[in-house]
Amino acid sequence: MTTLPSPDRHNQYLLPAALALLIFIGCLRIVLDNSKNTRLFFRLAGGGYRVLRRPIRVSKDEIIEKGCDIFDGKWVWDNLSHPLYTEKSCPLLVKQVTCLKNGRPDSYYQNWKWQPDGCNLPRFNALKLLEILRDKRLMLVGDSVQRGMFDSMVCLVQSVIPEGKKSLKRVPPRKIFRAEEYNASIEYYWAPFLVESISDHATNHTVLKRLVRLDSISNHSKQWEGVDFLVFESYVWWMYKPTINATYGNLNNIQEYNVTKAYKIALETWANWIDTSINSHNQKVFFMTMSPTHLWNWEWKTGDGGNCFGETQPIQHPYWGTGSNLDVMGIVKDVLERLRVNVRVLNITQMSEYRKDGHASIYGERKGKLLTKEQRLDPKNYADCIHWCLPGVPDTWNEILYGVLLQDYRKF
Ligand SMILES: *[C@@H]1O[C@H](CO)[C@@H](O)[C@H](O)[C@H]1NC(C)=O
Ligand SMILES: *[C@@H]1O[C@H](CO)[C@@H](O)[C@H](O)[C@H]1NC(C)=O
Ligand SMILES: *[C@@H]1O[C@H](CO)[C@@H](O)[C@H](O)[C@H]1NC(C)=O
Ligand SMILES: *[C@@H]1O[C@H](CO)[C@@H](O)[C@H](O)[C@H]1NC(C)=O
Ligand SMILES: *[C@@H]1O[C@H](CO)[C@@H](O)[C@H](O)[C@H]1NC(C)=O
Ligand SMILES: *[C@@H]1O[C@H](CO)[C@@H](O)[C@H](O)[C@H]1NC(C)=O
Ligand SMILES: *[C@@H]1O[C@H](CO)[C@@H](O)[C@H](O)[C@H]1NC(C)=O
Repeated sequence: MTTLPSPDRHNQYLLPAALALLIFIGCLRIVLDNSKNTRLFFRLAGGGYRVLRRPIRVSKDEIIEKGCDIFDGKWVWDNLSHPLYTEKSCPLLVKQVTCLKNGRPDSYYQNWKWQPDGCNLPRFNALKLLEILRDKRLMLVGDSVQRGMFDSMVCLVQSVIPEGKKSLKRVPPRKIFRAEEYNASIEYYWAPFLVESISDHATNHTVLKRLVRLDSISNHSKQWEGVDFLVFESYVWWMYKPTINATYGNLNNIQEYNVTKAYKIALETWANWIDTSINSHNQKVFFMTMSPTHLWNWEWKTGDGGNCFGETQPIQHPYWGTGSNLDVMGIVKDVLERLRVNVRVLNITQMSEYRKDGHASIYGERKGKLLTKEQRLDPKNYADCIHWCLPGVPDTWNEILYGVLLQDYRKF
């Protein structure tokens, strides 16, 4: 007991040390600021040069405790910290997700914070994220659910960047947000099956007729090469029917595959690309598990044949809907475990399962257009219980992604 220095004695040493550190950081900052364009370099043993990164201060409460499963937890009401932005503060939001503007009467869905059971998530800090992304590219690859995550990410960071120093461009199948002063880009890439398909046109894709090339990915993957942070997701496009038309090899040999079998083959094609093309030293890969749908309300209450329409509160009891296919989840787990490259799972399925209240419902779009008055009167047929309102659930996926990137940056 007595060997421990008293807090006072401790402080005697801490104060000068802290001052010295502050002065050091101050000098470092001046050097760094003066070298805005020339940036500091230091020589590596091998003879190469490496850019010295600007330090990010990571406080104690931003550290995720080791061993904590951040995907295991609950939604807590917190209208002080959430939402992290508003529809008005993010003019870049597309009308597909601006549910309030589109007439949604309640805004409770914006006020929930994800609270892991074993630890806290760091509070989202756009400046720190931009620092992590300095001279780098973050790319989200997948379908329109993933596009929602992209839109969310753009909103989360854009407000700290002055006018004229940011841009959002459409370069199909990509959308690219740039933060000039950081030379950072946040991108979205449309590839609803990850592998090639006849639905790959970013704006004019066939929805009813689907044909997937299970063994072809290079048309897409050549545009993923060298990207620093990649986040993949693919699910809902597979789940249209129990079988799906696909080819393997010969393009003329079209066969109907059991969806789970097709998904497995496609994911293996993707995995093969990951293992042969990703350099783990300077690239990081994430795979986001399925975003749940809420199509049948009898699954969470005594339903009336309705869906997510009219839901204003998260589910508070253990819940897993039939929309999140366990066979597919198992395939994802198996394939990722067998990879040589470390791919991090963003296992957002369970947490999002609770959020029956978060979908666009009748306050979104169908076929690129807001619902008409008549369609809104028929939520059973027209409510969108797949996509999410923003601000909303995808912001939390990004808070988690940010949390993980911040921990990695700290350890680097
Ligand atoms: C936040 O939530 C509390 C508790 O429900 C409520 O009393 C308060 O009015 C809310 N504040 C705002 C700004 O919405
Ligand atoms: C800007 O970022 C790209 C990657 O996104 C990188 O290849 C390039 O070297 C960066 N430019 C500078 C001047 O650092
Ligand atoms: C892939 O690219 C090739 C050459 O550009 C093209 O012929 C082929 O149709 C593309 N595949 C798909 C699925 O779009
Ligand atoms: C969309 O694609 C279809 C079939 O490929 C084509 O007939 C149609 O002209 C395209 N529409 C637009 C607006 O490009
Ligand atoms: C597969 O394609 C055939 C021929 O176009 C079509 O009749 C069948 O309905 C398709 N199957 C599925 C599951 O879409
Ligand atoms: C597809 O395969 C899975 C797993 O092998 C099986 O559980 C499921 O019943 C199959 N579905 C169909 C429609 O054959
Ligand atoms: C994701 O979490 C669920 C439990 O919520 C688990 O059953 C599943 O195996 C996990 N998926 C992966 C790919 O790790």
